Amino acid sequence: MSGSGEEESKVVLVIHGPNLNLLGRREPGIYGAVTLAEIDRDLKARGEAMGLDVETFQSNHEGAIVDRIQAALGRCRGVIINPAAYTHTSVAIRDALLLLGEIPLVEVHLSNIFRREPFRHRSLVSDIATGVISGFGAEGYGLALTAVGNLLKALPPAEAGTKPDSN
Ligand code: DQA
Repeated sequence: MSGSGEEESKVVLVIHGPNLNLLGRREPGIYGAVTLAEIDRDLKARGEAMGLDVETFQSNHEGAIVDRIQAALGRCRGVIINPAAYTHTSVAIRDALLLLGEIPLVEVHLSNIFRREPFRHRSLVSDIATGVISGFGAEGYGLALTAVGNLLKALPPAEAGTKPDSN
């Protein structure tokens, strides 16, 4: 994109928390009929069309999610995360996300967490996220990727991880 010939990361990491592996079967009245494989396939295709390399990861384990976020340090341009139940409890995932610094970070929920039980109203991620998308089902992930893509396009080349053509 920069024409500098330098390697530049185009990786956007998408993280799905616990029980989201069962999307399609899990409480479809709340979470919808779309499976996680379908969501991931759609995001990769959308990413390709936007010139982004979408990597997806799901785990039911808090520490595994922390490890995956740490592994993304310095090599990913943006993160989309649905921490699922860990949204409401995990200081460890919040702290790991803080390590990533000032890259676009979008928190996604399939359901509108504010229309649900009071314990779901609190998120340990929202106040450190660039933005939150909640209540639009699987389409929320596509909206999040569009938002990340637009934010990255709006960054000056140096901040976007590209080298300016001349200094
Ligand atoms: C969720 C909402 C959480 O409260 C819940 O624990 C989930 C999914 C959502 O996508 O709506 O597992 O993050």
